[in-house]
Amino acid sequence: MHDTLLLFGATGDLASRYLFPSLVHLLRDRLLPEGFRVVAVGRTPHDDDGFRGWLRERLHDEDGRNHDALEDLLSRVRYHALDLQDADAIAAELSRYGDRPTVSYLSTPPNLFAPACRGLKAAGLLEDPSRLVLEKPLGHDLASAREINATLRESLDESRIFRIDHYLGKAPVQNLLALRFGNTLLEAVWERRWIESVDIVVAETAGVDGREGYYADYGALRDMVQNHMLQLLALIAMEPPASLDADSVRDEKRKVLRALRPMTAADAVRDSVRGRYGDGVVDGHAVRGFRHEREVETFVALRAYIDNWRWAGVPFRLVTGKRMPARATEIVVSFRPVSHWLYERPSRERAQPNRLHVCLQPEEAIDLTLMGSLAAPEWGATELQPLTLDLEMSPAPKRRIAYERLLIDALKGDQTLFVRDDEVEAAWQWIDSVSAAWQAAGTPVEEYPAGSWGPASAAPFLPTVTGANGKRRP
Ligand code: BG6
Repeated sequence: MHDTLLLFGATGDLASRYLFPSLVHLLRDRLLPEGFRVVAVGRTPHDDDGFRGWLRERLHDEDGRNHDALEDLLSRVRYHALDLQDADAIAAELSRYGDRPTVSYLSTPPNLFAPACRGLKAAGLLEDPSRLVLEKPLGHDLASAREINATLRESLDESRIFRIDHYLGKAPVQNLLALRFGNTLLEAVWERRWIESVDIVVAETAGVDGREGYYADYGALRDMVQNHMLQLLALIAMEPPASLDADSVRDEKRKVLRALRPMTAADAVRDSVRGRYGDGVVDGHAVRGFRHEREVETFVALRAYIDNWRWAGVPFRLVTGKRMPARATEIVVSFRPVSHWLYERPSRERAQPNRLHVCLQPEEAIDLTLMGSLAAPEWGATELQPLTLDLEMSPAPKRRIAYERLLIDALKGDQTLFVRDDEVEAAWQWIDSVSAAWQAAGTPVEEYPAGSWGPASAAPFLPTVTGANGKRRP
């Protein structure tokens, strides 16, 4: 395991909210190597102690169990104030850390990737076996993603590049693979003959707060669908890999992404909705709408199709939005109706098809809806009702911040949960088709009240999560 982490963007939001807290937990649980050290790099001027003080203020010891680990982390941190555009300064300042293999983590805007790589290379910090970790956004479209990948390739080999999609670090997301490939039951029916539709919903109560500029450039399509939602889709739809090694898994995900049917302007009218939240009430608090001169969405609903043997004709409905009534990341697999219905009660029309419901956030839960008849018939005939087979995990498993797992894997050199260059490009290729289709079709950005499930026109995209009346299903 490498023991030197160079963290660029150390004074940024992501670092203080997720990366440093993850390191505290990993130190507490003794999962980091003996000589572990962090070289923090940011633009804000601080000396080492100044930075440690700044960081101490931001790292709360939530449950009183982390005090020692927090102090331990601070004792391992050095700080350098550097302008990342300045490759010479990076090289001059950081080459001293080249005595051991390093992991450089660029938690920075993508326009800094190229100069930072030049500086790191000149400092000898990208020599084999050192590694590079990158945060999103990894481009704005296919052309810019390709440019980034080409720049990275000049500095180091793909086998040492770790692109983060933090959804892949979430334990319930990894559990999707375990569910699919650790059981015969599901895999046997995991295809178009038995599955009618798949819903992937990522609803957030949070707004764009503090990130208005970024959001105006990216919108929900690029911020959420290009990465997290397409990764979920790929995990659900991929063929079984021959092994769990990084390239076997990523080869299969890439095939799914490449089989996504490009969206046309005609499809966009039928298969997409864009929305932006206006004023409203979320969790009992009045919130203001997102206003910006640019036509950009905070909500998107899409019907995607995977043109391959397994999934031909099965709609994958992807819905994500900010300022929704509840935070929920859910996947619902709806099976086809029974081919021949034998029962009077309920009628065929009222029988509920089987449904596998995987809730990833905020609580992890898996349940399967089946039709059955548990009650003794009172009127002389069997009456069926939906029964829920609930795989409740009790006690609830201890959850880690997604970044904990990803940081460990990057230090160890395991790329399975990181996104490969060709996957990123395949995802952008489809996203580009959606944004071109929106442009050609003039798809409007419809306003929805904060605290609702998006524009009214999106209701057909949310049948399994919100129900017909817009209320969340129990
Ligand atoms: C980030 C997006 O990648 O994911 C944010 O930029 C979004 O806009 C966040 O809020 C959601 O992550 P999580 O882990 O809270 O579901």
